[in-house]
Amino acid sequence: MNTTHSKFNRGKTTLPEPDAVAHAHSEKVAAHVRRLLDAGGGWLSLHDYMQAVLYAPGLGYYMAGTQKFGEGGDFITASELTPLYAQTWAMPISAALVQAQSFSPSPPTPLPQVERGASNPRPPSTDSPFPPSNPPSALPTPLQTPVGFADTPFEKGARRGQAEAKCSTPSMLELGGGSGLFAAHLLQQLKAMNCLPDRYAILELSPTLRERQRQTLHDKVPDLVSRVEWLERLPDTFHGVVFMNEVLDAIPPRVVERVGDAWYEHGVRLDDGRFIIASQPLSDPALQALAASRFPVRGDYVAELNIAGEALLETLGQRLTSGSTLFIIDYGFERAETLPAQYAGGTLRAYYRHHVLNDPLLWPGLLDITCHVDFVAMAEAAQRGGLALTSFQTQGEFLQKQGILDHLTRIGAPEEAAYLSAAQAVRTLINPEAMGGVFKVVVFRN
Ligand SMILES: C[S@@+](CC[C@H](N)C(=O)[O-])C[C@H]1O[C@@H](n2cnc3c(N)ncnc32)[C@H](O)[C@@H]1O
Repeated sequence: MNTTHSKFNRGKTTLPEPDAVAHAHSEKVAAHVRRLLDAGGGWLSLHDYMQAVLYAPGLGYYMAGTQKFGEGGDFITASELTPLYAQTWAMPISAALVQAQSFSPSPPTPLPQVERGASNPRPPSTDSPFPPSNPPSALPTPLQTPVGFADTPFEKGARRGQAEAKCSTPSMLELGGGSGLFAAHLLQQLKAMNCLPDRYAILELSPTLRERQRQTLHDKVPDLVSRVEWLERLPDTFHGVVFMNEVLDAIPPRVVERVGDAWYEHGVRLDDGRFIIASQPLSDPALQALAASRFPVRGDYVAELNIAGEALLETLGQRLTSGSTLFIIDYGFERAETLPAQYAGGTLRAYYRHHVLNDPLLWPGLLDITCHVDFVAMAEAAQRGGLALTSFQTQGEFLQKQGILDHLTRIGAPEEAAYLSAAQAVRTLINPEAMGGVFKVVVFRN
C-alpha cells in the first residue's frame, strides 16, 4: 500500500481470514449494531457506528482483547517501531517540564479517579472521558494561517542545557497510551536525564489496554511504575505536559457530504443482511453550517468533522494551567481542501492485519477504523480553549531536529544487526514517503 497518506502498515497483499473465535466475537458486535439500527429506525450515522464498533464496552475494537498494535496486530504506531522514538521525545518533553516548573503552580491538584501502578484494576467506566460531541454553537473563525506555524521552540542548544535541570513538580499526561511502550521508554530516558515527572498519568478509555499498559510498565520499568496513574476522565486542571499520539484519528467523526445544494450525512444501514454505507439528508442545522464554513465554496464534497476531537482540544485548552505544553502527533492535513485526490470520498479507512480494507464495515469489532485529522480545525479548537500554537511540523522534520539520528548513532556500529534494524525503523519514522510526511507534530502552550 501507499504509506504516504495513511496510517502506517506493512502493506501486505493477502487478507487473512479471522479465526472462529474472532468471527464469533464479530457476530456479537454485529448483533449490537443491529440493535442500534433497530432503535434508530434502520439507519445509524457513521459516527455512531464507529462509536459502537470501536468503543462499545466489552465489544468494541479498542475495548476487547485483540492484539491491535505491532507486527502481530493490525497496525504499527511510532513507539512500537523503535525505542528511539520515545527516547527522542524525552528531550522536548523534559524542556517542556522544566518550562512548566518555572511557572511554579499552586500545590498539585489531585487527579480524579486514579488507579496507581501497583493497585488492582477498577471496574471499567462506560462514561467517555471526553466532552460531549455536540457541534460548537458558534461557528469557528475563518481559516487563518495559524500564528507560529513555524519552527519548534525546543532548539538543540537550549535543550541540552535544560535537560540538566531537575524537574520534579510538573506532571505528564499521556492520552491513549496504546501498549504502554511509549510511557515505558520515555520514563526510562527521563530517568537517565534526571528529569522524571512526579506523576505520569495515562488517560485510557480501554480497560484491556489499561491492563496491557500496566503490564508493559511492570516488565520494562518496575522501579518507575509507582509514578504511573490511570485516569478515567480529564482532570479539572492540569499543570505540566500533555502528549497524544494517534488519538485524534481514533475519535469517531461526523461524515458530511454536499451534492449540489443538498446536504447528507453518511451512515450505515442493512441491505440483505449486510451492513452498507448509506447517506441520509443532514438533519442537524448546526452541523450543516459548520460543514459549509469549512467546505470549498463550490463542488460536490465529502469530509469528516471531528467534533468530539475538537471539543477535547478546546477543553484541554481551558484546563491546562500557565506554563503547560500540549504535544499532538497524528496523520492529517492542514486544511481539507489540500487533500490528495485519493481522499475525494473522505479519509475514513479501516485496517486489519496490516491491510487497508475497501469495506470499512467488514467484520465489525475486528477492524481499526480511523480518519485523517484536520489540523486547522484542531488548532482553532485549541485556540478557542486559550492555548497558543507554537509549532507545526512534519514528524520527519521534528524528529530530525530533536536529534533522532544522534540517538541512532549510539546504537552501535553501522554494520551491526541492531543498528540496521533501528535505522530501518528511523527511516520509516522520518521518510516523507512513509510516516515522516503525513504525520504532523503540533505544539501548543498555555
Ligand atoms: C491508535 S491508538 C494509539 C496508541 C498509542 N498512542 C500509540 O501511539 O501507540 C489510539 C489510542 O487512543 C485511545 N483512545 C481512543 N479514544 C480515547 C478516548 N476517548 N480517551 C482515551 N483514550 C482513547 C485508544 O484506546 C488507544 O490507546
